Amino acid sequence: MADNLRRLTPTDVPRLRQFWSDHWGGEFIVSRGNIHHPEQMEGFVVEDQDAWAGLITYRIANNECEVISLDGLRDGQGIGTMLLRKVIEEARATKCQRIFLITTNDNLYALGFYQRRDFEIAAVHRGAVNESRKIKPSIPLIGMNGSPLRDEIELELEL
Ligand SMILES: CC(C)(COP(=O)(O)OP(=O)(O)OC[C@H]1O[C@@H](n2cnc3c(N)ncnc32)[C@H](O)[C@@H]1OP(=O)(O)O)[C@@H](O)C(=O)NCCC(=O)NCCS
Repeated sequence: MADNLRRLTPTDVPRLRQFWSDHWGGEFIVSRGNIHHPEQMEGFVVEDQDAWAGLITYRIANNECEVISLDGLRDGQGIGTMLLRKVIEEARATKCQRIFLITTNDNLYALGFYQRRDFEIAAVHRGAVNESRKIKPSIPLIGMNGSPLRDEIELELEL
């Protein structure tokens, strides 16, 4: 799979838009009250023939790297780890001081996944998803594990 990892290019934008619609409930992603659009993203994709088997998107600004989305579509084959590692390398190479991301209170698997990879909880933004929902009404009220979807949890790795 590592051979099939490549950087996103501008020609991927329509496909990225569709991917986010399919996996994240809309053509844009909201975190910390900011709207992220596909055309603003840097990222890497893992391809399995024509299909996208994994995707990570991120933005670098002010010496910080924010992971905007991470999806592994072949559970437990190492794709999510490989993509995250790639962005950590990128962030280090661009002299970022930290890499951070937002996940939500219901996503217990992601909370474990990142913490097993040395990320630490940097902040809990109580009720932030309720605010994001005002911008993106497609965010469901009930998330994973049948939990109310309401808080943003910020995880970071200092570089
Ligand atoms: C979180 C997510 C990205 C992980 O992706 P993934 O491709 O399954 O991740 P990996 O395969 O690298 O790792 C998952 C587990 O499989 C194990 N694994 C990795 N390669 C393996 C292999 N070749 N054989 C067996 N197990 C393996 C890993 O050890 C890992 O377990 P661990 O976390 O206990 O160490 C994926 O579950 C996902 O897309 N979730 C939905 C979207 C989401 O919540 N994204 C994150 C929030 S932004």
